[in-house]
Amino acid sequence: MSLDALFQPFEFKSLKLPNRVVMAPMTRSFSPGGVPTDEVAAYYRRRAENQVGLIVTEGTGVARPASLNDANVPRFHGEKELAAWKKVVDEVHAAGGKIAPQLWHVGAAKGKDVLGKVDSPSGLSKAGGNPFTEPMTDAEIADTIQAFATAAADAKRLGFDTVELHGAHGYLIDQFFWQGTNVRSDAWGGPTIGERGRFAAEILKAVRAAVGPDYPVIIRLSQWKQQEYTARLAETPKEMEAWLQPLADAGADIFHCSQRRFWEPEFEGSDLNFAGWAKKLTGAPTITVGSVGLSGEFIAAFGGEGSQPTSIDNVIGGLERGEYDMVGVGRALLQDPEWVTKIREGRSDELKAFERAALGTLY
Ligand SMILES: Cc1cc2nc3c(=O)[nH]c(=O)nc-3n(C[C@H](O)[C@H](O)[C@H](O)COP(=O)(O)O)c2cc1C
Repeated sequence: MSLDALFQPFEFKSLKLPNRVVMAPMTRSFSPGGVPTDEVAAYYRRRAENQVGLIVTEGTGVARPASLNDANVPRFHGEKELAAWKKVVDEVHAAGGKIAPQLWHVGAAKGKDVLGKVDSPSGLSKAGGNPFTEPMTDAEIADTIQAFATAAADAKRLGFDTVELHGAHGYLIDQFFWQGTNVRSDAWGGPTIGERGRFAAEILKAVRAAVGPDYPVIIRLSQWKQQEYTARLAETPKEMEAWLQPLADAGADIFHCSQRRFWEPEFEGSDLNFAGWAKKLTGAPTITVGSVGLSGEFIAAFGGEGSQPTSIDNVIGGLERGEYDMVGVGRALLQDPEWVTKIREGRSDELKAFERAALGTLY
């Protein structure tokens, strides 16, 4: 199959990418005290040297006490932290790459460390059960919105090419979207996805005001939650439109549509996946992701399951048909910085299996 669709340049606002491969954001926990090290910069640089079109960094915490739940995950605030990120940007640019930070707030998702008072819509870490902490106050919500906007402005100032908001996988923004974790009856909750999407929309408006009209803003979304793989925010295309269109109106330019297996259709009666529907409904460019080039999906990988390299013809087919615009690749690029080079040069016999051991090193 021709690789042309994958190696077409992509342009949107100020972003110019040489091809359609996006390194998916992957938490690595190699930043002691929240400061990315030189090894972290070298890790991203190796991917840039090997033709990754856009690198989205691991999730990095906005300026709230408990935006992270692991002290080895990088922060995106503070002098030392931002100076270290500047080094990452400069290394990636020196190698000809493009890079976005993934701005993250974990909300009530439990992790290795407790770094402050937990922020969450209703004090729930999953659907059902009793709250384990107080819901966020209006003042805390306002401060969190501001923290995302400040981080986006800092990203632009440091030279990042674009910015991604982590609105997926059951973390803070998604905890507001999801009825299971947002049971508020004030202006930040309600029975419809439009009402529960207000928090994300306000963040996007503040981010847009902070970065200006020409700087691309990506938001990552998922139907599934790490707390519940079968959870869904939109059961129909109409509901999906009610979820996504207000986000596009508020300033989201590109939707990064997270699935665990990209080829799974989103709704009955059509083969379109999540990224396909997001593009069809909003007209915005989209990124698909989930088990590209690998036989098994990533949650199983945490449990120790390896994955063998597989053909990428099917994901290229969707690009050719214009269903989505870019392709996110996670574990294949974590395992092998040369993945894109090997694909481009047809060196399929050199593609590597994904092994859990790769999670323990930062090559
Ligand atoms: C080690 C690891 C860490 C991850 N951390 C993040 C993260 O910080 N933010 C995020 O949105 N997704 C995260 N993910 C999900 C990936 O971005 C991606 O969606 C997922 O791995 C599926 O792509 P793949 O099958 O190509 O690996 C992580 C995945 C892995 C394997």
